[in-house]
Amino acid sequence: MIGIFDSGFGGLSVLKEIVSLLPGEKYLYYADSAHCPYGEKTREYVIDRALAISRLLMERGAEIIVVACNTATAAAIRTLRATWPDFPFVGMEPAVKPAALHTQSGVIGILATAGTLKGSNYLDLREKYSDKVKVTEHVGQGFVELVEKGILDGPEAESTVRASVSPLLDAGADTIVLGCTHYPFLEPVIRRVAGPDVEIINPAPAVARQTERLLPRRQETDKSITGHPDITVLSSGPSISNDTIARFLSL
Ligand code: DGL
Repeated sequence: MIGIFDSGFGGLSVLKEIVSLLPGEKYLYYADSAHCPYGEKTREYVIDRALAISRLLMERGAEIIVVACNTATAAAIRTLRATWPDFPFVGMEPAVKPAALHTQSGVIGILATAGTLKGSNYLDLREKYSDKVKVTEHVGQGFVELVEKGILDGPEAESTVRASVSPLLDAGADTIVLGCTHYPFLEPVIRRVAGPDVEIINPAPAVARQTERLLPRRQETDKSITGHPDITVLSSGPSISNDTIARFLSL
């Protein structure tokens, strides 16, 4: 069974990619909705949540855990790996390298939470590419809250997105990295605000491939499976209806 967690619905953007690659697996998704958002919390707080959720997923039979959250990865992936050295964890980080390879303008824009942008993983990555490209960044202010409320388009979504994306465009970014797993649900709005010439990079497909590589035991994928994938969703907040999950997974 593949365990996967996020502060809320964001990780469903990653789950969707993993399920499309590995449809024969069982999935246990944990939305830490009672503690969302993680982005403004302290590192210690997020580490505690990541430890508690990982323990729960393992007790329920997870054989691998995908930390489908850039903020939780930035704060806790080292602690998780040190606590369970033989257990496979897949983490996420902003896709600086693919963006640096793609840009023509020489400026890349990173959208992520405050927690991710001040994490040492990101700062190291930024430093590594700083002699090749100009890296500019902005918190997707209010994006997580919109997605948690299910507001994925319309005037409120557009003005919220514009406020955080415009500074990246003004700095000359022609490539924008979605460095938070909630943000892909706003991708149509981000695309509209950024215009057709800006490339938007979502690292979720690469995370799905890494999950496949690290999976200890792979279920044979029956290509004739056309029914619903085997996904259980738990939440620390209000329970999440199947309709809501189906809606997010179909986006
Ligand atoms: N979805 C998360 C991420 O990838 C965290 C968002 C939040 O809770 O602030 O960073």
